[in-house]
Amino acid sequence: MAGTQNHYDGVFQRHVSARRREVGVRDVTEWAEPLAAGSTILDLGCGDGVPISEALMNAGFEVFGVDSSPKMIAAFRANLPGATAECAAIQDSAFFGRSFDAVVAWGVMFFLSTADQETVIAKVARALNPGGRFLFTAPIPMVTWEDTFAGVTFPCVSLGAENYTRLMREHGLTLVDEHSDPWENDYYIATKAEATPPRTDPR
Ligand SMILES: C[S@@+](CC[C@H](N)C(=O)[O-])C[C@H]1O[C@@H](n2cnc3c(N)ncnc32)[C@H](O)[C@@H]1O
Repeated sequence: MAGTQNHYDGVFQRHVSARRREVGVRDVTEWAEPLAAGSTILDLGCGDGVPISEALMNAGFEVFGVDSSPKMIAAFRANLPGATAECAAIQDSAFFGRSFDAVVAWGVMFFLSTADQETVIAKVARALNPGGRFLFTAPIPMVTWEDTFAGVTFPCVSLGAENYTRLMREHGLTLVDEHSDPWENDYYIATKAEATPPRTDPR
């Protein structure tokens, strides 16, 4: 397995104590606001579910989480027994063999290789229902860096706004917004086109 994968098991405790609960919560709840109550949301790189999946469940959505760290998924299941979870790399996951009204990936995309990010964008586009929404964090500039956390170094890459926009367009997603939050997280919001109504022949 490439990238961080189960390395996050090694920083699990540190992540749980360092994760600021306010980061991302308002952003994802506002992003999810247009969705109908009970809509399904896939949380990629869900971690222990706090605070992102938790906030979405509290807002009345049905949440499905995927994370490659067994420790994270065990904590996710304990924290959010009403959610559904899978321990898998997001580039390999079958996403529960179903579609979703929205997909969120907070703090994970840039840990994947360029090729895996391309795979995930294509998979998300396929997994979204028509009119579905996608939010993921990654720096707006195209950049590579090393993120050292609790003594573990994670190689990171952002493909940058131009490439993300192009890739998403190639898979039927339209970038509708880019944001930067006060903690220097950049994120992208995209939508999948609504289904075209069946053509009725003029009489
Ligand atoms: C920075 S944490 C973010 C967790 C959560 N989204 C949050 O906002 O608190 C990154 C998470 O991505 C997971 N992760 C990293 N690479 C992954 C991959 N290829 N597939 C699935 N999960 C991955 C890690 O195990 C970790 O839980």
